[in-house]
Amino acid sequence: MCGIVGYVGPRDATPIILQGLQRLEYRGYDSAGIAIYSQGEIEIRRDAGKISHLFDLVSAAPLHGHLGIGHTRWATHGEPNARNAHPHLSSSGRVVLVHNGIVENYHTLHDELEAEGVHFQSETDTEVIVQLIERYLSSSNSLVTAVQKALSEIQGAHGIVVFSRDEPDKLIAARIGNAGGVVIGLGDGENFVASDLPAILEYTRRAVFLDPQKIAIITPASLQIQTLNGEIVNWKEQHVTWDPIAAEKGEYQHFMQKEIHEQVRSMTDTIAGRVNFSFGKISLPEIQLTPEFAQTIHKIFIVACGTAYHAGLVGKILIERIAHIPVEVDIASEFRYRDPIIEPNTVTIAISQSGETADTLAAMEEARKKGSTLWSIVNAIGSQAMRLADGFISMQCGPEIGVASTKAYTAPLVDLYLLAILLADLRNTLPTQMRYQLVNDLRRLPNLVGICLDRETEVQEIAHLFTDVSNCLYLGRGINMPTAYEGALKLKEISYIHAEAYPAGEMKHGPIALIDKNLPIIAIAPKDLWNEKMVSQIEQAKARGAKIISIANDGDERIKSLSDRVLWIPQTPWLLSPVTTIIPLQFLAYHIAHQRGLDIDQPRNLAKSVTVE
Ligand code: F6R
Repeated sequence: MCGIVGYVGPRDATPIILQGLQRLEYRGYDSAGIAIYSQGEIEIRRDAGKISHLFDLVSAAPLHGHLGIGHTRWATHGEPNARNAHPHLSSSGRVVLVHNGIVENYHTLHDELEAEGVHFQSETDTEVIVQLIERYLSSSNSLVTAVQKALSEIQGAHGIVVFSRDEPDKLIAARIGNAGGVVIGLGDGENFVASDLPAILEYTRRAVFLDPQKIAIITPASLQIQTLNGEIVNWKEQHVTWDPIAAEKGEYQHFMQKEIHEQVRSMTDTIAGRVNFSFGKISLPEIQLTPEFAQTIHKIFIVACGTAYHAGLVGKILIERIAHIPVEVDIASEFRYRDPIIEPNTVTIAISQSGETADTLAAMEEARKKGSTLWSIVNAIGSQAMRLADGFISMQCGPEIGVASTKAYTAPLVDLYLLAILLADLRNTLPTQMRYQLVNDLRRLPNLVGICLDRETEVQEIAHLFTDVSNCLYLGRGINMPTAYEGALKLKEISYIHAEAYPAGEMKHGPIALIDKNLPIIAIAPKDLWNEKMVSQIEQAKARGAKIISIANDGDERIKSLSDRVLWIPQTPWLLSPVTTIIPLQFLAYHIAHQRGLDIDQPRNLAKSVTVE
């Protein structure tokens, strides 16, 4: 959630850092700041509010120098204001630090330092780290040693970048635990550091991802990585191919709208290179799945949060139906504490767009501890979830900037479909003809998605029906039950309308009491195995005066006769139908929020990457 950018080299650090922070705006933040080393001093500008405000502060009182750090903060300890915004200075003013994470033993350290006479300037947990570094600098006189000592005292997961006015040739970055990713960008006679790649992609494609419990000493011409005990470790450079232009809004008003429209491309890219239509075969090389291993798998767990969890719910149906392997789907934050029973020959699949979600990473660790094989489906290349896993599938969607996840929902649906076919094939449980059919069904998918996208205006036209609405109910069944959950989540997070999703068959067990003319019902009713059931549940709601908006397949006259409005989608093979049914619901949430004039790409209280528990 917090963003970090640092620079050391011959160029003016200020614009590089400010633009880098701007590229991280999508992570969500409530204050921003920058520190630059200039003529023997550390100068800081920081305040609550958006980065545009930080630009104003810097143009009112310019900063120039060749070494600096910047930060966007999402408040955890202390309200968002100038005092609590990062960077934070030590009491002598010689060390400055930015931080991503939560210091779990903050109170103990704070009281200890205060008893030693430290006068705290902020209410943040972060300040204890810089004050600890100051404490150890007095005895060691080496910034690296002081950082190592300070970090060995703090609990929790962290990413930090720090520099000292006494050693103005270097930045020190560190990573503790799984949260707080740190990536070093290698330049020519200059180096960069950031919490996320997009911040530095404009300057370099050469990246070194810092592993947990490591410290990086970064000068313009060198990079050295050490353990917390000072042992030097080898590092490996990776070449990154993401195009920063892909991270621009282009012709669309919001990233969310752009990303919804990118789903034809992401579907095509997801299928490309992995599907051999001639032989009806799937290849997912990064998962490193052998027939021998596939045949031993007894059970699969899927762990994820939010939208990724909803993708996992669809994945359960896909894997159970196609590969006949039992699947349990868990919300990662629950899985990590519920002491799951993991027997031999279990695989745990983590799904995560960012690959940095703290709960998902902890669930992976729990599964690993209990002997499970780990796979992940991730969008962010080089992320933790990718690196922790024994094998991975990368979502082929490119960076997702809008906080509300859209293309990173549909991509894993197809990844899980591919995985299910591959598993079934390697276990010899899928009749050849059915395999060909399932593979062939993928051919039309990008086009079907395209047809749904072309109907955006039809969705936009009904957004006004929600002008005075404050509650909404989404109903679905079977493979489209998760579509109802995901549709409701999209509406909640960007339009702030309370939305609930229910398996339609459960209505009679209680929620039907809610129904009246003021509660719009969104019924997901494509022509699939559950269509008849949905029809009867729509009838029951209609009889109680509910306003019905249905998602239905072209030409379904029965649904049309029962609904106030229908959002039409093309007939899609049923196992792939969650890919098309969700698209009108993504648009619906988008246009309702747009009509309400809300901040669609950065909804209140939300962050793109939830790296704390
Ligand atoms: C909803 C949304 C969140 C994320 C969740 C998991 O639109 O974006 O619910 O899906 O925080 O994030 P990742 O996939 O990065 O692990």
